[in-house]
Amino acid sequence: MDRRKKIYLGTNTKMYKTTAQTVAFLKRLNQLTKDISRDRMELFVIPSYPSLAAARESVPRQSVSLGAQNMAWEEEGQFTGEISPLMLQEAGVDLVMVGHSERRHVFRETNEEENKKVLCALKAGLSPLLCVGETAGEKGFGIAEEVIRTQLKIGLYGVMPCEARKIRIAYEPVWAIGVNGEPASKEYADQIHTVIRRTLTELFGAEAGGDVPVLYGGSVNPQNAEELIWMPGIDGLFIGRSAWDADNFNAVIRKVLPVFEEKRAGEGAE
Ligand code: 13P
Repeated sequence: MDRRKKIYLGTNTKMYKTTAQTVAFLKRLNQLTKDISRDRMELFVIPSYPSLAAARESVPRQSVSLGAQNMAWEEEGQFTGEISPLMLQEAGVDLVMVGHSERRHVFRETNEEENKKVLCALKAGLSPLLCVGETAGEKGFGIAEEVIRTQLKIGLYGVMPCEARKIRIAYEPVWAIGVNGEPASKEYADQIHTVIRRTLTELFGAEAGGDVPVLYGGSVNPQNAEELIWMPGIDGLFIGRSAWDADNFNAVIRKVLPVFEEKRAGEGAE
């Protein structure tokens, strides 16, 4: 299974960093991590739209994949203010985030809209990184699993098993994200990751569904990164604040990579 071979680590810089700051960040991150084979790690950065082209020029594609934070669900048309997947492709983008918590909750995007974006991204050859996660209220009512399953089943509706290898999932509980967020416990995160894996295999079958990487995000920091990545259901980490300084991100990478590899070696021995 390809998913097990490497760790997935990425950051979303949200509405922070100018183009100059993004380029400086990428160059430093690439420099700091160049000794780590990309067969062991998929490293991605998701900066602001205007910085994408310069970001792509600044580091090799094989070293750092680039993502966009959002996308329209059509390739072109009368959609003032929107960005087409073709424009992202032209800028050298590899993946596109769909349904980040801030898109769903600040900008009121729906599961149906996320689905249209996932299908449109796949058509354009981009990898959708579909973000899912329950609010504190939904968790309180005991419906987190139902919410996640609904987000996945609608968000991925119509995706073929042969396209599933392009998909990545990020589990980001809304209550865990950002300055007021409280990180999920490793046990809770792993429990939801198990539900996500089960849903993916229901949708795509054991082989294709078993191969989709599922990342955890939401207040990942240097203190909790190792215990999270040690959990069997967690294939990678999607980090905000703790990764926005390249040296800090590199420090987290150096902590989690050996833990991840020890976990996978142990699974192989079972
Ligand atoms: P934080 O790590 O800052 O909580 O942000 C997570 C996130 O939203 C990544 O997309």
